[in-house]
Amino acid sequence: MTTKTWSKLLSHFSEIKDIHLKELFKSNPKRAEELTIIWDDFYADFSKNRMTSKTLSLLVELANEVNLKDAISKYFEGDIINQTEGRAVLHTALRAPKSAEVFVNGENVIPGVYDVKNKIKDFTNAVTSGSHKGFTGKPITDVVNIGIGGSDLGPAMVVDSLQFYKNHLHTHFVSNVDGDHYQEIVKHLNPETTLFVIVSKTFTTQETLSNANSIRDWFLQSMPSEAVANHFVAVSTNVSVVKDFGIDEANIFPMKDWVGGRFSLWSAVGLSISLALGYDNFESLLSGAHKMDEHFRTADFNKNIPVIAALLTIWYNNFFNAESEAIIPYTQYLNQFATYLQQGIMESNGKSVDRDGNHVNYQTGTLIWGEPGTNSQHAFFQLIHQGTKLIPTDFIGFVKSLHGNKDHHDKLMSNYFAQTEALMNGKTKDEVLEELSSANLSSEEKDMLLPFKIFEGNKPTTSILIQKLTPESLGKLIAMYEHKIFVQGVVWNIFSYDQFGVELGKKLAKTILEELKLNKTASSHDSSTERLINFYKED
Ligand code: F6P
Repeated sequence: MTTKTWSKLLSHFSEIKDIHLKELFKSNPKRAEELTIIWDDFYADFSKNRMTSKTLSLLVELANEVNLKDAISKYFEGDIINQTEGRAVLHTALRAPKSAEVFVNGENVIPGVYDVKNKIKDFTNAVTSGSHKGFTGKPITDVVNIGIGGSDLGPAMVVDSLQFYKNHLHTHFVSNVDGDHYQEIVKHLNPETTLFVIVSKTFTTQETLSNANSIRDWFLQSMPSEAVANHFVAVSTNVSVVKDFGIDEANIFPMKDWVGGRFSLWSAVGLSISLALGYDNFESLLSGAHKMDEHFRTADFNKNIPVIAALLTIWYNNFFNAESEAIIPYTQYLNQFATYLQQGIMESNGKSVDRDGNHVNYQTGTLIWGEPGTNSQHAFFQLIHQGTKLIPTDFIGFVKSLHGNKDHHDKLMSNYFAQTEALMNGKTKDEVLEELSSANLSSEEKDMLLPFKIFEGNKPTTSILIQKLTPESLGKLIAMYEHKIFVQGVVWNIFSYDQFGVELGKKLAKTILEELKLNKTASSHDSSTERLINFYKED
C-alpha cells in the first residue's frame, strides 16, 4: 500500500496492538457512547473493537486519502465502476424513489426500474389472489425458484429470514446441478398448481439450465406443452435465449447488466421474494435498503455504519493479520445470512490484482463464516474464545422477538450480550484462582487446571442491535454489508464487481463432462485428475 496514511497506521498499530480492550474501557468511561452509532432502528456499537479514537481518525484519513467520497458518488451516479466488464454497478438504483434520476449511457434508468417493479407487483397479486391460474384452472400453491449463486442465495435467504411474514404460497429453491436436489423437491409437487421461476442473469449457467430442462421434462410427463405458459416464468437479461427456451415474452421479467448477480435480489431476481411475502413486503425491503443507501451516502465517515465496519475489516485484516470474520445472528431466522454474505463478500473482494493490473502485496478479501447464536456457541465458539486466531465477530440481534416469547428472547439475548463481554474480558489468572478456591480439588489439581481456564480475552466484536426483524430492517442490514464490500474494494484498490475466478473451473468442467460421456479412458490431464476420472468411469 502506497498511501501515506498506511504508514501512519502501521506505526500507530505498533503502539496499540497489545493494549487490552479492558484498559481502553477503563481509560475512557465514555468509550461505548462515543463509538456507538444510533441510526433509525439500528444501534451499532463498535466500542468492543481494538481501536482508539486515533485509530478511527487515521482510518477515516485513509478513506479520505483514497477519495472514498468521490468513489461513492460515482457508484451511485452510474459511472462505469465495474471497469473490467465495462458496466455501472447500480443495485442502489433498484431501490431509489420514483423521482430519482440515475443515468446510464445518457438514459435515466429509473422509469425502467419502475416498469419492472409494476410487472412484479401485478404478477404477484395475480398469483397470490388466485386470478393467475394453472393450466387446469387451479390456483397456484407452490413456487419453485430455479437459479444458482446470486440468482438463488439472495431470494432464498430473504424468504427464509422473513418467513414470519409469508403468505400461503409454499416456496422452494432448486440450485445444485446435483439431480437429487430437484428430484427431492419435485417429488412432493403437483404440476397443476406449481409455478416455476427460472432465474439466470445470463441464461447460460449450466446448473440452472439443466435443472430448468429436467424440471420442464418432469412437468411435461403429466401436462401438455401449452401448459408451460401458465407454469414457467423467467428472470434474465438474455431475453432472446429465454424465448428460445420456450417462455413467452410476457412471462419474462427483465433485468439489466448493471445489476451484479450477487447484488440482484432487489431486481426482478426478487420475484420469488415478492411472491412469497407479497409485493408490499418486497417494497418495504427495498425501502429499507434505500434508507441505508442514504445513510451511507450522506453520513460523515466517523458516523457512518458501513464505512466504519469496512475500515475495521481493513484494520484487522491488514494490520492484525486476521484472516476471517464471523457473522453471528442471534435469531434462527437469519440462518442463511452468513452463507448469503459469503458470495457477496468473497466473490467481490477475493481478488489479488489491483486496479492498475499489478499483483497486490497486501491481503485483500476476508473469509466469511457464521451460524446463528446460540447454536454456534455450542459448535465453534471455543476457537473464537481460546484458539490462536483473531476472529473479529459481528453480533446481530433484535430487541423484540417476532412471536413475542419474552422468556426465550431474554435467554437468547443474554447469551448475545454475555458472549461479547466474555470475548472482550476473558478470565484472568486471579479470577480463575478465585473460582477454583471453592472447588473440591487438591492444590495439585488446581495448579494443573489453571492455565487451561485462563482466557486472554481482547477478542474484538461489533454489536448490531436492531429493534425488530422486518422486511425494512432486513433491507437495511443487507445494504449495510453491500456498502461495506464497496468501501473495502476502494481502499484495497481492487475491482469488486467481476468474478473471473469462477470461470476457469466452469470451462474445465465442460471439457471433462464431454470426456465422462465418451467410451474411452481420459488421458489429457495430470495423473491425479486422470485417475479420478477413470475411477469414476469404471462404474
Ligand atoms: O458463480 C458465478 C456466477 O456468475 C455468479 O456471480 C452468479 O450469481 C451465478 O454465477 C449465477 O449466474 P446467472 O444468474 O447468470 O445464472
